[in-house]
Amino acid sequence: MSTETGPAVDPEPSGHVPVPGPRGLPFLGNLPQFGKNPLAFFEKLRGYGDMVRWRFGPNSCVFIADPECIGELLTETERTFDQPALGIAFRTVMGNGVVVARGPDWRRKRSLVQPSVRPKQVRSYAATMAGSTVKLADTWSDGQRIDIKREMAALTQKIAVRTIFGVDTPADAEAMGRAMDVAQQEIGKEFSGIGALLPDWVPTPGRARIKKAAAVIDAEVGRVVARHRDGDDERPDLLSRLLTAVDENGAQLTDKEIRDETVTLYIGGHETTSSTLVWAWYLLARNPQARAALTEELDRVLGDREPEFDDYARLTYAQSVVKETLRLYPTIWLVTGVAKQGARIGGVDMPEGTRVWSSQWATHRDERWFPEPEAFRPERWDAENGDDIAEYAWFPFGGGPRVCLGTRFAMVEAVLILAVLARRFVLEVDPGDVNPVPTLTLQPDRDVLATVRAR
Ligand code: HEM
Repeated sequence: MSTETGPAVDPEPSGHVPVPGPRGLPFLGNLPQFGKNPLAFFEKLRGYGDMVRWRFGPNSCVFIADPECIGELLTETERTFDQPALGIAFRTVMGNGVVVARGPDWRRKRSLVQPSVRPKQVRSYAATMAGSTVKLADTWSDGQRIDIKREMAALTQKIAVRTIFGVDTPADAEAMGRAMDVAQQEIGKEFSGIGALLPDWVPTPGRARIKKAAAVIDAEVGRVVARHRDGDDERPDLLSRLLTAVDENGAQLTDKEIRDETVTLYIGGHETTSSTLVWAWYLLARNPQARAALTEELDRVLGDREPEFDDYARLTYAQSVVKETLRLYPTIWLVTGVAKQGARIGGVDMPEGTRVWSSQWATHRDERWFPEPEAFRPERWDAENGDDIAEYAWFPFGGGPRVCLGTRFAMVEAVLILAVLARRFVLEVDPGDVNPVPTLTLQPDRDVLATVRAR
């Protein structure tokens, strides 16, 4: 691990961690630079070394950029690192689901939810993923103008509502989708604004909106759970799997716990997957060679049929497109931990309470791990090249005990959606750069408009 210094090193021993870092303002520390553009700030921190001290307001923090250290942070989560507490917007919407829960409660919930997202179960959701996309493709025609962000959000929402809640009637799906949209927006605003710093009792318009959305979600999910409990049919959705899950003491999830987990899966999986797809279309449009390689694979593997679950393993180039998209535009761009007693990283003691930050954005764009890091090259992930990539140099799904529960779900969904649509169409994205905005997920800064061309 290198700790080369950059310019303007802060001489104060404020962090107690003996590593270099940028100068900060009294009280505010480096908060203004972080707040202005967190992605650029993390890239700049990387210039100071692989372990850097900085201040988030009065709080002393450490930023790590080295894959080995990132691996230590991720694998030590829950043991010597805690995840920071989440804001009231998260808690109001997700309740005490697996993302919010900590310690033994989290362990129990994780073990109850995990079986419902295992590869065998994802196979049963794949037909809905491909089928919903085929329905969308049937509505597209040559020359049509589309807003890719809107199309991908609507499609992944349909898939999430169907696979998680088993809801298929348009009216139910719409009510649920609308409330989830409001909830997701408010969580994003809280995450990227000062909302999370306000005490829980302070009323704000955003908090009022989120309460209202949570009440709609409670009612909608309550109805769906009751319907599932009453019916005797075996349903192929996640909610049904959760209803039969039992913990090590033989106890089942309560209705409130089922509500929290299903909503958590929805919020955790919807925007992350839909943004990944927007970035994938953007990158494919700007890299005609990669697009040609993708369509060559789709024609070879699928011919004139639609993809299904078994094709996922054969569509290796499509998988690489998704992985390379997640490298350049990691929709979750930040993972942090708070040191408990005895925490160490890279052989350096982390005083209790130190917040350690790592950013997928900064490490994924480091030329030591990815030569010509700005270039979109799905070939990096080929069987012969992929093995050379350092562990934790790429961590879009996190890692360790809290690794994303939906990794397989998201990969299969993204590959099947790309396969259905790219087999039939080329999306000619309007010229001009689209820049990432780091809210809760990495969002395009504007609408991504395109013309659909039939192949
Ligand atoms: C491209 C899409 C996705 C990305 C980039 C992504 C990324 C991540 C990351 C980085 C974490 C760890 C966060 C941390 O340690 O602070 C995480 C956790 C999680 N993800 Fe995903 N995710 C995606 C899709 C999904 C999907 C589709 C689902 C559900 C079906 C899902 C459910 C979850 C859950 C429940 C957790 C919390 C796990 C725990 O704390 O034990 N994610 N995700």
